[in-house]
Amino acid sequence: MTAVDTYAAMVDAANAQRVRLHGEEAPGARWDHEVAQRFRSDPLRSLDANLDVIAAYVEPQDVLIDVGGGAGRICLPLALRCREGIVVDVSPAMEEAFRACAADAGITNARFVRADWLAAEAIQGDIAVAASVTYFVRDIVAFIRKLEAAARRRVLISVRSVPGPNLRATLFRLVYGEEQRPAPGYRELLPVLWEMDILYYGQGAGDSPHGSPSFSTPSV
Ligand SMILES: C[S@@+](CC[C@H](N)C(=O)[O-])C[C@H]1O[C@@H](n2cnc3c(N)ncnc32)[C@H](O)[C@@H]1O
Repeated sequence: MTAVDTYAAMVDAANAQRVRLHGEEAPGARWDHEVAQRFRSDPLRSLDANLDVIAAYVEPQDVLIDVGGGAGRICLPLALRCREGIVVDVSPAMEEAFRACAADAGITNARFVRADWLAAEAIQGDIAVAASVTYFVRDIVAFIRKLEAAARRRVLISVRSVPGPNLRATLFRLVYGEEQRPAPGYRELLPVLWEMDILYYGQGAGDSPHGSPSFSTPSV
């Protein structure tokens, strides 16, 4: 079994468990209004250590694409530091939260494209970021290749040491009486990058278990 197969199998297992317990969902429904509110973050805040790592790659003339960018937690503060920020995200609730955050902060150079990344058309920029998204992506090779094709200079993939969905494993067991099928994290992602012949450059903000290392892949 290849690393890519293992990755897809983990996403399939997590999705199958979710459907068995909650039923089928429309695309993006997982990130509903309540979840989207939790992803709102003040774009005018000072940058934390993780965002600082990403911001160091962004130049004033850049167009930044934030794939699965949600409510703009990353895109909006970075839009204040570059030419344009574009979130490509599948969730209507995240779009609503993104627009509210941008309006509240008076940010006019950022936009939201509601689309699945694999179906999104004609999006080009200098930097492509995907933060806390790869855990949910079954077709990880196509997803990353598309990031590479969209970014003129750099792809940045940010994942937590423990993927967000897996943080609830203990609660999950208590509620459902079974083990949660874990989402793939960096242990599964890095072998995929190697299989793709991508020599990544890893950078993390601290060693905390919930730190969020960024894997930077030069776009080709
Ligand atoms: C955990 S949230 C992370 C949001 C944001 N990147 C952040 O760090 O605050 C995951 C986001 O990825 C989006 N997403 C998941 N799969 C996607 C896909 N294939 N194409 C576009 N967006 C996707 C979801 O709609 C959701 O907003």
